[in-house]
Amino acid sequence: MTINVLFVCLGNICRSPMAEAVFQRLVDEAGLTDQFRIDSAGTGSWHVGEKAHRGTRQILAEHGIPYNGRARQVTRQDMADPHTYIITMDQSNSDDLRREFGNHTNQYRLLDFARETAVTDVPDPYYTNNFETVYQLISDGCQGLLETIRQREGL
Ligand code: 4NP
Repeated sequence: MTINVLFVCLGNICRSPMAEAVFQRLVDEAGLTDQFRIDSAGTGSWHVGEKAHRGTRQILAEHGIPYNGRARQVTRQDMADPHTYIITMDQSNSDDLRREFGNHTNQYRLLDFARETAVTDVPDPYYTNNFETVYQLISDGCQGLLETIRQREGL
């Protein structure tokens, strides 16, 4: 069985590509590559087809994590499988998805899984330019997310 995980932010150039790359690295390190299909998308369409933001590419490179994805928008098909883990970066992403696609039974905010912080929304570095803070929050959330999925799915 393949577990689908889709990370969602607003533009799909800063936060959700970073989460996709970090989570892929954790899954690979755990030897679970074949069990997962990991992707990211944005609720908005402004940046479709673009590479990740320079700040995201730079912070991933600093941490030795590869990423070559291009931005795309969330589709109805993405949201159609109730088993897909839909992981948003902030509450507005969650609200936007619910407004557009209705309730999804397996939709969460990434930082609900974080162990080291009480912050609930990943701040948007498109505006703050603070990619290191975002990386730390995303790493924390992704570790907790993987642990939760492993327990729940018996991996
Ligand atoms: P992201 O950041 O949602 O983390 O990819 C943003 C990127 C672009 C815009 C907003 C947020 N924008 O308004 O173009």
